Amino acid sequence: MTTLADITSLAKRRGFFYAGSDIYGGLANTWDYGPLGASLKKKIKDLWWDRFIERRDDMVGLDSSVISSSKVWEASGHVASFADAMVDCKTCHGRTRADHLIEDKLDIKVEGKSLTELTAIIKDNKIKCPTCGGTDLTDARSFNLLFPVHLGILAETADLAYLRGETAQGIFINFKNILDSSRVKLPFGVGQMGKSFRNEITKGQSIFRTVEFEQGEIEYFFNPKTENWEKLFDQWLNAIKGFVIHTLGINEENLRVREHDDQERSFYSKKTVDLEYNYPFGFKELWGLAYRTDYDLNQHIKHSGKDLSYTDPYTLEKFVPHVIEPAVGIDRLVLMVLCDAYWVDEANHRTVLKLSPTLAPYTAAVFPLVKNNDSIVTRARAVFDDLNKTFRTAWDERGNIGKRYLYQDEIGTPFCVTIDHDTLVDSMVTVRDRDTMQQERVAIDKLNEYISAKLK
Ligand code: GAP
Repeated sequence: MTTLADITSLAKRRGFFYAGSDIYGGLANTWDYGPLGASLKKKIKDLWWDRFIERRDDMVGLDSSVISSSKVWEASGHVASFADAMVDCKTCHGRTRADHLIEDKLDIKVEGKSLTELTAIIKDNKIKCPTCGGTDLTDARSFNLLFPVHLGILAETADLAYLRGETAQGIFINFKNILDSSRVKLPFGVGQMGKSFRNEITKGQSIFRTVEFEQGEIEYFFNPKTENWEKLFDQWLNAIKGFVIHTLGINEENLRVREHDDQERSFYSKKTVDLEYNYPFGFKELWGLAYRTDYDLNQHIKHSGKDLSYTDPYTLEKFVPHVIEPAVGIDRLVLMVLCDAYWVDEANHRTVLKLSPTLAPYTAAVFPLVKNNDSIVTRARAVFDDLNKTFRTAWDERGNIGKRYLYQDEIGTPFCVTIDHDTLVDSMVTVRDRDTMQQERVAIDKLNEYISAKLK
């Protein structure tokens, strides 16, 4: 069984991600992506953008501001109710989320329960502080998750704004701008990808839940009188499942769809499901899909006084569109991809990241067999230069070939290409496959074609 420690240790060892502010003792719940993690994350983001925005004629993109007016978050309801229930330990002063405390101890879901109900469950079941085991806990209290920021040079004139708690609101507040400046017509969606911020207490699940994270969110607007929302909902569910299984190459057995019951679902949503992935700490939300009705646009109409309705260009009917929202955390996609790819090949004493070749940070690695033979190194450089025009290619001349293979296996490079003494005579190289470890001699002038064919 792969553990989270296996993944975080590989991530640190090979440069996928590191704890944030590490040299200063770390900053809780923040992470920095290293060279390979930055590459993997960018590939995932590019695929999301390509598949959900650029390949569709009913979608447009947006890149709205991270800092937004406090009025946006008052209208959306985040200022009043975007909060977690927290419990403080009076002995060690550790703070824990009440739902996590109960979930871990009793294995029950408590979404939708009031602060009084949560407090009662904790007291009735004599749940202890997870840090020190103390029993003197405060009642559950509500803590808002939004990060306030103050704009302006002088504190007295500072204006309260917030770092966005989700990318979605940027789409709603730009709905009229998009209608006025483009030729979109219903049904259509707006997608955006970027950082969101939530002042969360987490359970130390690495990049799964962090205070700064990236989201890819889509608001798909439609006329509820002419579109069947259940059909659209299913189409989106299939689209996001298809992306995870076929585009990212995730094992379907590690996925499940869980529908929110009435208690868990937001009051304005008619249906919400979570696509969950089986992380090392169990099935957890990867991608949320919610039918949010016309709630958000109506809230902004009410608070801004602006007309955010849509007029059908053919029937001239004027109405506020409804919306279906597929929302995913990019960091959760990265963690899922790493967990799914992690494989300990015990027979061959190696750890392999079986990443899909479209995601692997490097498609190929080129090795000169020895580094002190100018002819071999020159030939290997030429092979590298040529391959690197088409595929991201790594160059490695350090250590013996066995060690170089082990390193490339751990970072998921599908092909290793070795240039040896025979290459100087027959213009052929040895290509070694990451998963099967099989080796084949391939002519240099056919190498590009060979790798392209394997990637199909
Ligand atoms: N606009 C709806 C919305 O934001 P959400 O379920 O709160 O819904 C959507 O967030 C997705 O963002 C989640 O499914 C999850 O993948 C990701 N996400 C939420 N909070 C996160 C956090 N603290 N760290 C990392 N990812 C997070």
